[in-house]
Amino acid sequence: MIRDYSEVIDRVLIDEESIKLKIKQLAKSINDHYKDKDDLVLVGILKGSVMFMAELAKHLKLDVTMDFMVVSSYAENTYSSGNVKILKDLDTDIKDKEVLIVEDIIDTGYTLRKTKENLLNRDPKDVRIITLLDKPERRKIDIKPDWYGFKIPNEFVVGFGLDFDQLYRNLPYIGVLKRSCYEDIEDAK
Ligand code: IMP
Ligand code: MG
Repeated sequence: MIRDYSEVIDRVLIDEESIKLKIKQLAKSINDHYKDKDDLVLVGILKGSVMFMAELAKHLKLDVTMDFMVVSSYAENTYSSGNVKILKDLDTDIKDKEVLIVEDIIDTGYTLRKTKENLLNRDPKDVRIITLLDKPERRKIDIKPDWYGFKIPNEFVVGFGLDFDQLYRNLPYIGVLKRSCYEDIEDAK
């Protein structure tokens, strides 16, 4: 059924054009940082990073490989439990490789801390983090991305890969979800 997104989106926070422009700029920084390397592995954290990873990779001028992990920290709500599980591991060996974790958003930081720790145990040359969005106000763990697209306020956002209860990943922009969509299952932030 065709959905009228104005029913669920309070407002557009970052429009499609601004996202694309920012990702182009991020790709320039990545190209520059890894310009002498030929063993970069992009590790996308499914499913939220899919659009970001695809858009970023299009602008890379490096020999990169792409792999994905499924890491779960959220159930069907909007707060992080601190319980992070690897549900699908990489297909490739990252020993002695340059690893760049590609994430949609850093919120509390639990997901990335656990994921980074896990990857560091595999003896890569280096593990860095790029995230499209950063919500620094909500941080519980002292972890900073090496590159980020946008710092955003403490609001629940969807689109460009980010979901609420698996929906709205397909939106081409980042939008603030209406509180009425989730306030019945969320007590407090
Ligand atoms: P963290 O472990 O709290 O940093 O959570 C990171 C993960 O939570 C992200 O990869 C997202 O999947 C999800 N997440 C955090 N904030 C939002 C949001 O505003 N919208 C959609 N997903 C979010
Ligand atoms: Mg995610």
